[in-house]
Amino acid sequence: MKVAPSILSANFNNLLDEVNSCTGAEYIHIDVMDGHFVPNITMGPCIIKNLKSKTDKVLDVHLMISDPYKYAPDFAKAGADIITFHYESDSDVKKTIDLIKSLGVKVGLSIKPKTSPEVLLPYLKDLDLVLVMSVEPGFGGQKFMDSALGKLEFLRDEKKKHSYHYEIEVDGGINEETAKKVALSGCEVVVAGTYVFGSTDRVNVIKYLQSL
Ligand code: DX5
Ligand code: ZN
Repeated sequence: MKVAPSILSANFNNLLDEVNSCTGAEYIHIDVMDGHFVPNITMGPCIIKNLKSKTDKVLDVHLMISDPYKYAPDFAKAGADIITFHYESDSDVKKTIDLIKSLGVKVGLSIKPKTSPEVLLPYLKDLDLVLVMSVEPGFGGQKFMDSALGKLEFLRDEKKKHSYHYEIEVDGGINEETAKKVALSGCEVVVAGTYVFGSTDRVNVIKYLQSL
């Protein structure tokens, strides 16, 4: 699996040092929350712009906001490499996918734990990434929900059946044990906040996740 440490659990006093401590990680996962789509407020384009100028890592931006269609251009301009938005947002899904692609950025679509993966079927051919939430979005440090595993398997099967190109990503509650389960179910990119940033041996945590 590729690894996407979530900076939601990083120390913001030294954000760049925190990002640089993730040696070997392919992506940096950036959780954007608007206090409306989810009950928490985090960061906006200026954080991404700042990181972009100082790191070569792929910036994997996860928009947990009500109107991704309106704000996607700001995140593309700031330097996002991948913009993932939620199926459950208020924006038109197809229009938002097309918009993000037209901005020259990779596009991802995410589903919350109560959403069935079948809703993704009309969009799968157009996606660069599908993000399965294994916790209710909003906060780090929650418990992994096993219901994500069947969704990963579904996405793995659809990808194989149709030769789609999207990467399958999972987000929430990843630790040493749950990581094994998602790897076996078809996860290709694993997001980890608490597990990576809560460790004093981040490089080896990242290596472990990659080895799965
Ligand atoms: C939750 C965020 C996650 C969060 C994961 O809404 O999307 O990316 O940072 O945190 P952990 O790995 O601690 O569950
Ligand atoms: Zn996330």
